[in-house]
Amino acid sequence: MDFSESVRVVEAGARDVAGGVNSGFRAGIRPNPLVFAKASGCTLTDVDGNLFIDYFLGMGPMLLGHSPKEVIAAAKSQMDVSLLVAGQTELEYQAANLINQMVPSSELVRFASSGAEAVQVALRIARAATKRWKIVKFEGHYHGWFDNVYWSTAPDPNLAGDESNPIPVAGTQGQEPSENLVVLPWNNIEAIENQLKNGDIAGIIMEPIMFNSCGILPLPGFLEKVRELCTKYGTVLIFDEVITGFRVSPGGAQAVLGVTPDLTILGKALANGFAVAAIVGKKDFMNLVGEGKVMHGGTYNSQSVSMAATVATLQLIKSGAPHRAISITGEALKQGITEEFTRAGVVHEIVGYPTVFNVRFDLKGPVDYRSGIKANRERYGNFALELLKRGIRVLPRGTWFLSTAHEMIDIEKTLSVVKDVLKVGV
Ligand SMILES: Cc1ncc(COP(=O)(O)O)c(C=O)c1O
Repeated sequence: MDFSESVRVVEAGARDVAGGVNSGFRAGIRPNPLVFAKASGCTLTDVDGNLFIDYFLGMGPMLLGHSPKEVIAAAKSQMDVSLLVAGQTELEYQAANLINQMVPSSELVRFASSGAEAVQVALRIARAATKRWKIVKFEGHYHGWFDNVYWSTAPDPNLAGDESNPIPVAGTQGQEPSENLVVLPWNNIEAIENQLKNGDIAGIIMEPIMFNSCGILPLPGFLEKVRELCTKYGTVLIFDEVITGFRVSPGGAQAVLGVTPDLTILGKALANGFAVAAIVGKKDFMNLVGEGKVMHGGTYNSQSVSMAATVATLQLIKSGAPHRAISITGEALKQGITEEFTRAGVVHEIVGYPTVFNVRFDLKGPVDYRSGIKANRERYGNFALELLKRGIRVLPRGTWFLSTAHEMIDIEKTLSVVKDVLKVGV
């Protein structure tokens, strides 16, 4: 497969765009950052004319595929009505009401434009509600790129200290000090209780299922125990469901795992490609924002076209049809990958759900970041690159996102490419 036109366009574009890409996470992609001409259904076409079956799905949002007709029709018709009004539209109340019906922890909603921003609102609410400053986050969990949380998202273990008591590792130059952040190993109740006992932790933020740096489920009873400890020590429990929300199930990971946090961050699948995120939670906490004690602003919050897309997306997800469809195709894909790997004698593990799962090589059963990165990540990266060269686009870190646009024929094609790649060997 030839990627030379992408190389040429990015190089030329780098005269105007810093580094030729508009997110640091898009740089350094192998074989080179791609330039896409078209997205449709479950496929992408790049400027070299290569066609890919896409399991990136915009980094997760496109649960209904790249061209869901109901969402596009709702957005298009709203464009004739209003774009941005610096006031309210009825659409935002409809969208919020749908979230309140679907997500267990959601009693009140505030919309934002990105997950990273919404995280900041949750942290501010936790600090205001408890009159404490410190926040606990977990090694390997990602909550956006802002200074106070972009720590230890994928740290070099040689710089990160003892695994039971990690040293926060900065994600970037120019980052403010982390004096109010405590980084802990995930799935480790003892480490959490030791911190909470001090009575100075405002909030704990976590991905309820770890999908960013590795694919790891919470150990049985872990989330329940964290919930109990947060209640006992007056700490606000925040689930960052930017990946898992509306994807793992219509009610997110919390609905499947049966543990309800105080606050939840939503984004990605919430609006199927439109720039919408939300901070939602229990009334007692969200009222701090509602009463103006905690400030939350944003010119583009609840932008009309995005809200029309959100309502259309949520109505579809709430019907249950998308999850029912993907439970068949996604499950077939998971099983097919397992069969191909087993046949090829590759030690592997697949963790997750038909709508989003993680595949790793040469390791089973990790429980946290330090054990998770013992998987053969280089080998997996090579595997992802070989798939790409044959028209299947998957994240090099192991995550596969499915959409309703992936049909059985796409799954079969994907599996036959997986088989070919394993035959050649990675
Ligand atoms: C778990 C999690 N939280 C927060 C974010 C940040 O969301 P956004 O990229 O919309 O700012 C992401 C993005 O990937 C994420 O995966």
